Amino acid sequence: MVYSELPPKTTARKKVRVPDITAAKGARKLTSLTCYDATFARLLERTTLDFVLVGDSLGNVIQGRNSTLNVTVEDIAYHVRCVAAALRTPLLVADMPFCAAGFDAPATYRNAETLMRAGAEAVKIEGATPALCAQIQTLTALGIPVMGHVGLTPQSVHALGGHKVQGKTDAARIRLVDEAKRLEDAGVFAIVLELVTPEVAVDVTAAVHVPTVGIGAGAGCDGQILVLHDMLGLNKDFRPKFLKHFASLEDLVVEAVGEYCREVADSTFPTDGRGHDEPRRQTES
Ligand code: KIV
Repeated sequence: MVYSELPPKTTARKKVRVPDITAAKGARKLTSLTCYDATFARLLERTTLDFVLVGDSLGNVIQGRNSTLNVTVEDIAYHVRCVAAALRTPLLVADMPFCAAGFDAPATYRNAETLMRAGAEAVKIEGATPALCAQIQTLTALGIPVMGHVGLTPQSVHALGGHKVQGKTDAARIRLVDEAKRLEDAGVFAIVLELVTPEVAVDVTAAVHVPTVGIGAGAGCDGQILVLHDMLGLNKDFRPKFLKHFASLEDLVVEAVGEYCREVADSTFPTDGRGHDEPRRQTES
């Protein structure tokens, strides 16, 4: 097998489609993670995730920036193509990055088109202004499924005054419930709730018929999403309160590379080709 081939389907699991996500509300919890490349997509394919998001969080975890504001539609499209090369079963959702939606309606439609042509099966849009909801309504009417995103919307980090928990006052709670309802009316099939109080998450979840997917929003949502690199513990220093490290890959990677360096230095690696794993890329078949 060459490295770029799709892995054989390891489970009989049915392809997850947009109606499956919507139908999960009240029936089971949705699970999702971000993903940005084919290697991780190949691994996620072997899990029971419902959807995978090529998030603009790639600005942080891939590009090393301290916000998502530098991420472009072309960046997302590139990573969607990478993920689409190896993902078959979970729904593939692409983030519309900073300024890609909400300003100029034709530009919003073109940007969504770019991401769908790259391999996305739905797009996610941050915010719920009336103008944005009108554009979401057009997208959904044209057959482009849209996932909403309210609460902490990182593309508005400067307007929000930082990465702060949202919905702490009654007014803010009412506004978030209204935003979610507006998004539902515009036709979204699910709504990400980021960094809102658990009480707000429960209220929003009860107020809409589409599933809510929380990150830092407590257990009251219809599902959960995390940033893959964060939950795998690839950066031990990043420990927001809501995050759980389900593995400590930072240590594993550093230890493995350290061992490689030691073995090269003391000439125990490479050997004459016996006793080690087969090379990953084969030049001959
Ligand atoms: O970009 C992203 O990863 C996201 C998730 C945190 C929901 O929007």
